Formats: sequence, C-alpha cells, structure tokens
Amino acid sequence: MKVQQHQYQLRFQQTEELIKRFFGEKRIKKYLKALQNHSSHILDHSFRVALLCVDLGFENKFGEREMQLLGYAGLLHDIGKVQIPLEVLDKDSILTSFERELVNEHTRSGSQAVHGFGDDLKRIIVGHHEYQENSYPRKKTERRAIERKEKGRRKDNPLIESLTEILAASDSYDALRSKRVYKPSKDKAETKRIMLNQYTGDSKYINQLLTR
Ligand SMILES: [Fe+2]
Ligand SMILES: [Fe+2]
Repeated sequence: MKVQQHQYQLRFQQTEELIKRFFGEKRIKKYLKALQNHSSHILDHSFRVALLCVDLGFENKFGEREMQLLGYAGLLHDIGKVQIPLEVLDKDSILTSFERELVNEHTRSGSQAVHGFGDDLKRIIVGHHEYQENSYPRKKTERRAIERKEKGRRKDNPLIESLTEILAASDSYDALRSKRVYKPSKDKAETKRIMLNQYTGDSKYINQLLTR
C-alpha cells in the first residue's frame, strides 16, 4: 500500500514523516487495507485529511499524544464507510432518507470499529460531523443536554473538542477541494465561502486550512 500524492502545501516538514510512520503501523494498516479494498478514494481522502490534521496540529502546538490522535483520527475517521455500499457512497443524485441514515451511521459504526486506541479516538471519530449544519449523530442541542446531564463524566474535554474541530474542518476542506465522482473540486474562494457558512467550529481552523 502506497502513500498517495496530494495537492496541499503543508507548512511543516515533519507532517509527512509522521503520517508515513502511522501508515506503517501494523494496527493501523489493517484498517487502511479495509478502506482500500472498499474504495481507494476513501483511502486517499483519509490520507489527505490526516496530513491536514497533523499539519494544523503542529501549527497549534499540540503535544505528542494529541498529534498521534490527530493522525490516527484523520486516517480512520471514515472507517465506518466500509460497511456502506459504493452505489450509495458514490450516488450522484439525492439520497433517499434510508440511504442518508445509512451514510450518517458511519460516525458511530466507525468509532465502534476502532479497537485498542482508547476512548479519546472513539470520541473524536464519532464527532467528526458535529461541527456542520445538520450535524450528526448528535444535534448541537442534544450535545449540550448530554453534557449537562453527564457533567464531569462523559463530557468531552476541551482538548478533545479542539481535536475533533480540527478533524471536522480538515474533512470538509478536503471534501470541497477534491474532485469526487459526483462533483468537481471547488477553488479556495468558494471553499472559504461555504465553510464560513457551514462549519460551526472555531473559524481560525478555516483560515489555517486556506493557507495550504
Ligand atoms: Fe465522515
Ligand atoms: Fe471524511
């Protein structure tokens, strides 16, 4: 399995090295193989998202453990999609509500599929579509209610929230900037406009991504 080319101008030299190292880890490789077997596009996307996550991680001066979480999360965030038929993933017309539910389930099934990395990685993966309009699996109001109810117990800590925001921003950025079967890629100006409208995390990450 080879690390693919990408179009991004990364700011930190160590980023590619770190991702290549994670790529080579046995416990990561088995998931990447599963992604590749299902769709090489998802593997390529995951690789680019991991690069962006780690590069932003360096820019925001996270520690070693957080850098590892960012890299793993980037590589594995869409692992739940291996259970979804390609006809649905690549469909170029509007999804039925059943198909939409099937797709949205990839955050939960993905967080359940990753074993042996601890709960923080699961939290980051499950939340990677929660900083957008129509967030899922949890709506913003549900999220707040859960946090109030489970105060001090399951509440995501601010550090994990920041890592999830970085993943969510990098994921949307790559989705917009890349060509997909059903859509062309968007330029930076259009990407910025869309993200400012739809991304509900910290907007500093949008600006950081746009320099890459
Ligand atoms: Fe996703
Ligand atoms: Fe993704």
